[in-house]
Amino acid sequence: KKISVVIVAAGSGSRFGDPLPKQYHHIGDKTLLRHSIEAFMQLCPAHHIQVVYNPLHQNHLDAAIGDLITGKNLRAAVAGGVTRQQSVLNGLRALKDVTPDYVLVHDAARPGIDPDVIYRVLDALQEHKGAIPGIAVHDTIKQCNDDKVILRTIARDTLMRAQTPQGFDFNTILMAHTKFEGLEMTDDASLLEQMGISVKCVQGSERNDKITRRHDLIRLGEHLSPENS
Ligand code: C5P
Repeated sequence: KKISVVIVAAGSGSRFGDPLPKQYHHIGDKTLLRHSIEAFMQLCPAHHIQVVYNPLHQNHLDAAIGDLITGKNLRAAVAGGVTRQQSVLNGLRALKDVTPDYVLVHDAARPGIDPDVIYRVLDALQEHKGAIPGIAVHDTIKQCNDDKVILRTIARDTLMRAQTPQGFDFNTILMAHTKFEGLEMTDDASLLEQMGISVKCVQGSERNDKITRRHDLIRLGEHLSPENS
């Protein structure tokens, strides 16, 4: 089966609180973006990796991965959009000439990707059109109104935190993204859910949690530092 990877790195990272977008920050000697790309390169060197970036960050991109561009399986980065959903769609469209069987969509802001997670997602794709890694929720979850008054408590034993890489049958996810272009869903599985297509949740990993704020970067850096790898 032909597998392609879309890595979305076009966000501005406003919650991170630094003018340099988080995907271009370093953990050890590599940027977050490069950690993600290398994880997939090690997994499937023959397949295609499509990075989606913001052309305003061209210098950062070149500094982070400029030396990789001539590699066999890394395609030239394409421009993203205003929303994550638009960025993914641009990445999927850029892969039309490849038309892989499966595509894995991954956030550059998750540099702690573990090969086992990738394999679990790919395995589940043998039986499902979509599969995503998830983590059980251990906190009690409250739904509140605009004044932060609690409306209800949601049974946590049914809840999973969604991670990436989210894997899909390529034609199915391209069709769903094309149909729902302009929405602002924060992940890709949501689009299949809206079409009534079942998506399997497999075990994710804590290391794969998204870097959103600065302390996430520090915490993950401790995990990924060479002494611990
Ligand atoms: O903003 P958030 O942390 O949810 O972004 C998740 C991923 O989506 C990040 O890797 C970010 O760079 C990417 N993204 C994007 N285009 C956008 C917004 C986010 O590629 N317009």
